[in-house]
Amino acid sequence: PQNLHGRSFLKLLDFSPDELRFLLRLGASLKEAKATGTEKQLLKGKNIALIFEKDSTRTRSAFEVAAFDQGAHVTYLGPSGSHIGTKETMKDTARVLGRFYDAIEYRGFGQADAEVLAQFAGVPVYNGLTDEFHPTQILADLMTMREYTHKHLSDISFCFIGDTGSNMGTSLMVGAALIGMDIRLCGPQSLWPDQALVDQCHKLAETSGARITRTEKLAEGVEGCDYIYTDVWVSMGEPEEVWAERIALLSPYTVTREVLALTGTPHTKFLHCLPAFHNRDTDTGEKIFQTYGIDCMEVTDEVFESPASVVFDQAENRLHSIKAVLVATIGA
Ligand code: CP
Ligand code: NVA
Repeated sequence: PQNLHGRSFLKLLDFSPDELRFLLRLGASLKEAKATGTEKQLLKGKNIALIFEKDSTRTRSAFEVAAFDQGAHVTYLGPSGSHIGTKETMKDTARVLGRFYDAIEYRGFGQADAEVLAQFAGVPVYNGLTDEFHPTQILADLMTMREYTHKHLSDISFCFIGDTGSNMGTSLMVGAALIGMDIRLCGPQSLWPDQALVDQCHKLAETSGARITRTEKLAEGVEGCDYIYTDVWVSMGEPEEVWAERIALLSPYTVTREVLALTGTPHTKFLHCLPAFHNRDTDTGEKIFQTYGIDCMEVTDEVFESPASVVFDQAENRLHSIKAVLVATIGA
């Protein structure tokens, strides 16, 4: 068994394939325990700070419910309402919160802020999303793929379509590289991940057996894939102005019924980390549809609502996988 006690969870690159597999197995067993009413509380008396410099529905709720299920308490520090990001440095914040809490979740902008927090807090810090990486999301994604595909993870192929250099594209690439999966990053070359990170992943692939393909061609990207994954075209924290350029670049990459059919297999499932712009039923979405005169963004409503879509199982798995991180790092 792996011992992750006292470890931070800042990025997947800090973990070995065996450690990641251990967290995935632990998540699955915690899911089972909750479903059967046999969950044991291993976080009694623990206090966890949840810092969100960007908003959240899933990540915050997953950390809160995971903590409560396990007997721990949480404090939510949102985008406003504390001195973080305004009058107190991350280094000072870390040294204060480290005296109060047993662990700290951090969602923010630069990955460097999460690293500073971890360096000075003296307690485990969990990355709840930065501009660069979203590692807890990948645990839920891999857990979901494992559940729906009766193959070893290393035999699974998937295609991430769209803004491939985003926190989601990069984190999925690292996860796939570590576990040895067949990942295709499909979208315009100008949005592909940083070359240094791609090189690092190719290096990991030499031992894990991962196949990493970058392509602008949808047919090549999705061929034979077990999963098609997409995400919003503009991420939190990016300026409004990038919408016009992203729409121009990414409109050919909307996940439609035709794109699903291009895989050539009827088994392909659809994944999205959520929130998703799949219809006009949100204020933000409607504003973008209106402003740019477009009919769809990253995925059609048809695909999102189809039987191929497993996005809500995926969302649920945020809870179980985040609980695994808490239990593994600060559990009794
Ligand atoms: N997928 C995800 O991180 O969602 P939230 O922004 O709602 O946390
Ligand atoms: N790429 C998205 C993911 C949201 C969970 C963002 O950073 O906004």
